[in-house]
Amino acid sequence: MSELINKLNIPKHIAITMDGNGRWAKERGKKRVFGHNQGIKSVRDTIEGAVEYGVEFLTLFAFSTENWKRPKSEVNALMTLLIKAINNETKDLIKNNISLKTIGDISQLPLKCQKELAESIKKTKDNTGMTLILALSYSGKWEIINAIKKILQQEVTSENFSEDIFLQYLSTNNVPDPELLIRTSGEKRISNFMLWQIAYSELYFTEKKWPDFRKEDLKEAIIEYQNRERRFGKTTTI
Ligand code: IPE
Ligand code: IPE
Ligand code: MG
Repeated sequence: MSELINKLNIPKHIAITMDGNGRWAKERGKKRVFGHNQGIKSVRDTIEGAVEYGVEFLTLFAFSTENWKRPKSEVNALMTLLIKAINNETKDLIKNNISLKTIGDISQLPLKCQKELAESIKKTKDNTGMTLILALSYSGKWEIINAIKKILQQEVTSENFSEDIFLQYLSTNNVPDPELLIRTSGEKRISNFMLWQIAYSELYFTEKKWPDFRKEDLKEAIIEYQNRERRFGKTTTI
């Protein structure tokens, strides 16, 4: 890819559905968990790329509400991997001035996982560079229902209710909506990710499976984004 990235038009927020680990492993005659393990390298490289290109928020969809329905052995392996990864990577997050956040029903995660995440969030909270958001036990529908539950506990009336009020109750409050949503592995679906926030996101699908995804692929996605005209319902400007 020889095209250059335009530093003046970098999406502030990129969200990625990291998909295809299992198939990647199967293609190599290995167990699915091998693919999840390899996916960590892609996470590391993608974070590095996002920092390099000047992305302000990077959200990684790591585990969905629906993923709890997978075999117990795979869920356990994913949780163990998550604990290990957070533990290993926190020092690099600090070094790279990245702050960690999570979205999703974190209370569903094993306690050890919750503890590891809380520690990393605490250690990185004053960092002023990129914000890394891990979506864990997350789904868009869960988030919307969760927001409604919180709203019902408040004295909000229909007269003063608005989009701006609603989004204060989402877990992405204070985070701009992603301009770009990337999904790896060739699947062209949303799979219950960020339903509210992606209302106007540019969607980018790549055939590459997550363990093969590198910062060059992120660059390619950003360049394609930069070549699109975002009209937001208006007429063309070119
Ligand atoms: C993405 O890869 C990781 C998670 C959903 C946790 P998959 O595990 O979905 O891999 P495929 O899509 O089955 O190949
Ligand atoms: C979406 O991938 C969730 C994550 C990447 C965390 P899935 O593999 O779970 O989605 P489906 O089953 O293809 O819709
Ligand atoms: Mg999948």
